[in-house]
Amino acid sequence: MDSSISFDDWYDRFNRFAGDLYPDRYTPEFVRELVDQGREVRSLAAQKNSVIVAHNYQYPELQEIAETVGDSLGLSKQVAEQSKPRVDFCGVWFMGETAKTIVGDKVKVYMPDHPGCSLVASIDHGRIRAWKEHNPDGLIISYINTDAKTKAMSDYICTSRNAAKIVSHAAAHHPGRRMLFLPDKYLGAVSLAQSGIDPELVDLYDGACHVHAKIGEFALEQALDLYPDAEILIHPECGCASTCLAKIMAGESEYQNAYYLSTDQMIRHAEASPVKEFIVGTESGMLYRLRKELPEKKFYPVHPDAVCEYMKMNTMEKLLDSLRNDRIEVNIDPETRQKAQAAIDRMLTIQ
Ligand code: 13P
Ligand code: SF4
Repeated sequence: MDSSISFDDWYDRFNRFAGDLYPDRYTPEFVRELVDQGREVRSLAAQKNSVIVAHNYQYPELQEIAETVGDSLGLSKQVAEQSKPRVDFCGVWFMGETAKTIVGDKVKVYMPDHPGCSLVASIDHGRIRAWKEHNPDGLIISYINTDAKTKAMSDYICTSRNAAKIVSHAAAHHPGRRMLFLPDKYLGAVSLAQSGIDPELVDLYDGACHVHAKIGEFALEQALDLYPDAEILIHPECGCASTCLAKIMAGESEYQNAYYLSTDQMIRHAEASPVKEFIVGTESGMLYRLRKELPEKKFYPVHPDAVCEYMKMNTMEKLLDSLRNDRIEVNIDPETRQKAQAAIDRMLTIQ
């Protein structure tokens, strides 16, 4: 039996740090079930020599059971560096595909379910091909929230942590060449402004994430009314991203404490900041990680309904089933994988 998992500890943590995020979820009966399942997950993961990784938006119990919890870039790096023959990936499908692209045939990648992502769903391969036909010399910069086929059509991949850096790098190494940034229009606009490159050279795709798009200016203003001393941690996919940036640049006082950050950067920023209160503009799973790691600080969701139902399709029960029965394996055809890997590798060398 795995004694590192204790009912008292999980019951206390889940209710203390996530009780308001998932009301009525963590009853004693349910936590007891999670503890039993969690112990079996650990034992099967050890038997099968698997590393379990989880994105920051996963349910608290999956964050607890994982060896590493992180943002897209952090998880990609972790998967690239680990040496076990199996990865159990708790996240959405494009993340599992990214992991598989990086590790290739030497590692099997399993997922508890097959969750999509609204940003990935907004991509039309025909539009990308048409852009390339009009701009044969153009560069395609794709956010990591894309399917393997889109990554294979791309010159560079970026994440929310490094998008401005990748855009600047591409512009500096290929002066004068047109770029298509896809699929997220909010991340694209912020990265473009932060990189300082000529906006005339960049075409922005018009995709958006349905969870972040609803975090608009109004939600942020309401949160600021409630917590005027708080710093604002904004994921660049948010609907308020561009208007907020304009307010920062115009010197509006309430917005001088607003920061654009990937999910992992939010933790490092909050840790280093002397401020004690934060308004968090991203999916609610992030609040659990922030509150658990920095219990002396306070974190408020900017929007109470910012829940990604795709991320929440993964559960401990499904993870256990996956480890027992090797249910859902991620596979990519070799040609797509090779091309996608070249674009991801280009990003990883720019860090
Ligand atoms: P991060 O890379 O910041 O974790 O974001 C991934 C994501 O899906 C945001 O919705
Ligand atoms: Fe995709 Fe949005 Fe969910 Fe992130 S929060 S996985 S971008 S749907």
